[in-house]
Amino acid sequence: MPQLRREKGQQGNHQVRKRAITSPAQELIERIAERKRETGAVILAHNYQPPGIQDIADHLGDSLDLSRLAQRIPERVIIFCGVLFMAETAAILSPGKTVILPEPSAGCPMADMITPEDLASLKQRHPAAEIVMYVNSTAEVKALTDICCTSANAAKVIESIPEDREIIFGPDRFLGGWVSARTGRDLILWNGYCPSHQKILPEQIQKLKRQYPDAKVMVHPEVPPAVAAEADAVLGTGGMLRFAGESESNTFIIGTETGMVYRLEKEYPGKTFIPASPHAICPNMKKISLEKILASLETLSPAVTVAAETAERARGAIRRMIEIG
Ligand code: 13P
Ligand code: SF4
Repeated sequence: MPQLRREKGQQGNHQVRKRAITSPAQELIERIAERKRETGAVILAHNYQPPGIQDIADHLGDSLDLSRLAQRIPERVIIFCGVLFMAETAAILSPGKTVILPEPSAGCPMADMITPEDLASLKQRHPAAEIVMYVNSTAEVKALTDICCTSANAAKVIESIPEDREIIFGPDRFLGGWVSARTGRDLILWNGYCPSHQKILPEQIQKLKRQYPDAKVMVHPEVPPAVAAEADAVLGTGGMLRFAGESESNTFIIGTETGMVYRLEKEYPGKTFIPASPHAICPNMKKISLEKILASLETLSPAVTVAAETAERARGAIRRMIEIG
């Protein structure tokens, strides 16, 4: 309910004029809703987005959910609250739609750790190898890729490749190492990593486990192996949501980007979620704001575009992944 306040300068008058006031955030939210109605746009947001954005998003999800959704939903204008590789993936899969990233500098440092030239020279050294790239990679790298994967389906993707084939995997060496251990397959690993997940230390989890002995520990496969060794479950962000819902436990230690804690709290208000490290923040995920969303809806920009030939080749690798599930 809007509050009522006295108009400035009218104090003391007998006939005080009153007007409804809303907080600046509420006004922004209302304006966003209005522009969404006018433009027919939809807001997709990754599970690491700031709370205010999670609260107004039409759909929240992990990278796999969001790519599939972008393709499936009828809306022609998508405001993508996440980082560039995610918006690019949505644009590649939905060529007729306008995909807008409200802050164009919201990149992923891990995705930039492997260039198309790096990958081409690795492929030259292993010409028979199948190239599997984490979706956290640029469109140009995906265009040289045989099949993409996310943290949710990396093991399935690796298992879909004949056992006698060599496999190049990148850019994340930790996701690669984890999936190699799970599937028993040797992978030719690229040396990339996520600077935000690298901030989670095994000692922090050990300390929290002593403090909360009944807690279950969930970590993302982007964490270093010594951190994964402390976990009850190694899962992508979608997997964490399912695990928390199915588990009998009421307390969880969360080894991933801190935005995930808010996402879990929203879904399971009766359970307790403790971040493994308050420093595991992805600064790029936090570059999107309500103000930038409104500006995007007003100008219908900045749209993410991928050169047609690059998109065509990258689409094959992403579609192969989606078919696997
Ligand atoms: P999810 O696919 O698990 O949501 O992870 C994306 C990501 O960028 C993790 O850092
Ligand atoms: Fe990239 Fe790490 Fe941010 Fe995920 S959390 S988007 S991998 S920098």
